[in-house]
Amino acid sequence: MKFGPPLRGTALLALGLLLACGHVLATPLGLPPLPVPADNPQTPAKIRLGEQLFHDTRFSSTGEIACKNCHLDAIAFHDGRPVPRGVHMARGTRNAPTVVNAAYFELQFWDGRARSLEQQATQPLLNPVEHGLRDAAEVVRILRSDPGYVEQIRAVFGASADAITPAHFGRAVAAYERTLIAGDSPFDRWYYGGDAKALSAAARRGFEVFTGAGHCAQCHPVGPTDALFTDQRFHNVNAGFARLGPAPEQLARRYRDTRASNLDHAVLSELQISELGRYAVSDRLEDLGAFKTPGLRNIARTAPYLHDGSLNTLEKVVRFFDNGGKLDPDDPGPNPFQSPLIRPLGLSEQQRSDLVAFLESLTSPEYQPQRYRR
Ligand code: HEC
Ligand code: HEC
Repeated sequence: MKFGPPLRGTALLALGLLLACGHVLATPLGLPPLPVPADNPQTPAKIRLGEQLFHDTRFSSTGEIACKNCHLDAIAFHDGRPVPRGVHMARGTRNAPTVVNAAYFELQFWDGRARSLEQQATQPLLNPVEHGLRDAAEVVRILRSDPGYVEQIRAVFGASADAITPAHFGRAVAAYERTLIAGDSPFDRWYYGGDAKALSAAARRGFEVFTGAGHCAQCHPVGPTDALFTDQRFHNVNAGFARLGPAPEQLARRYRDTRASNLDHAVLSELQISELGRYAVSDRLEDLGAFKTPGLRNIARTAPYLHDGSLNTLEKVVRFFDNGGKLDPDDPGPNPFQSPLIRPLGLSEQQRSDLVAFLESLTSPEYQPQRYRR
């Protein structure tokens, strides 16, 4: 395989992380130590296998879709679309989040329905709007059909060809994703590195708004030694909530009675079920329309935004929050399930543009756009 610049960067970073091995890996400036599950330790061979699987389009019903189709190395592992296209151009319901730094999340997906990277990684394979494979047996058949994979799985997991399961796919891909860790942005060099010149005056003012008048840091926290910019909780910010119609509680109860047999399929193919958010997982009415707070690192590289991909610029996202959860003051809302923290802020034009400058300062060196201009 030929390594382009992003992969080479990843390989170097992985090497650095491994040198500092333990159950907790050393990480770039601004990030906490990386937790690694005791039953899936990082090894170079496992990471290499995971990287190959992540990029291998044979794991799809059409031979065209791999994880990398919706999580593109070159744009910070996002896909640049409001909602992605899977096999046969099938359209999903939710924006593809980046997988960079996903290794830190306690729960995966916008609604937190997967409890680990290992568990998350096999779900897209069987989803009809993503990889579209029929069943687990197909995943195993593809792994077994490649003598290289059979040999690697034997070497990495000690499993013979007969003993291969989709969990091997999940564990290797998760190990690879734990190398996609990015910090050391201009903000980190200023705030955690003490480099007064690393950040523009506008971005510094934007940080004041972020932690002050904007109340952003209440849900996107900035700690004393590091920042993931997420509280790892679920909030209803009024994005897409109107899609549930005039009686969202009734819809929720109806969903509870008929409960989809496969949550992963249902939320990604039916728009209204998607909008139930965390409720579809937790069954708690207070979670209706609530979605996981995303981390904001490399946010300037991963437009469009929000779980439904409905806002295409950071300026619009900032206006959305400034208006209390709507882009235009005439849009519907607030809704009865909306977080009390989402309310009109009355920011000035200057404060809004400073906030955008701050968000733009969260881009890590490996995802700066100029690296990809040749
Ligand atoms: C067709 C596009 C598509 C493909 C292919 C795809 N994903 Fe995703 N991915 C998404 C979407 C959309 C979501 C959000 C879905 C949700 O939250 O309900 C997502 C979510 C994730 C998340 C959760 C991140 C977070 O912040 O919660 C991870 C991790 C991830 N994908 C990894 C993978 C891996 C590994 C593969 C390959 C096995 C893969 N994806 C294949 C579109 C895709
Ligand atoms: C109540 C908690 C909360 C507050 C306060 C909050 N956010 Fe968020 N933010 C979220 C959640 C939850 C989402 C995802 C919502 C969704 O898609 O439904 C989000 C999404 C975003 C996104 C889009 C991320 C992406 O990957 O699509 C940006 C950018 C953002 N917030 C910035 C801000 C800024 C700037 C402020 C302050 C003006 C702010 N947030 C205030 C919880 C919050």
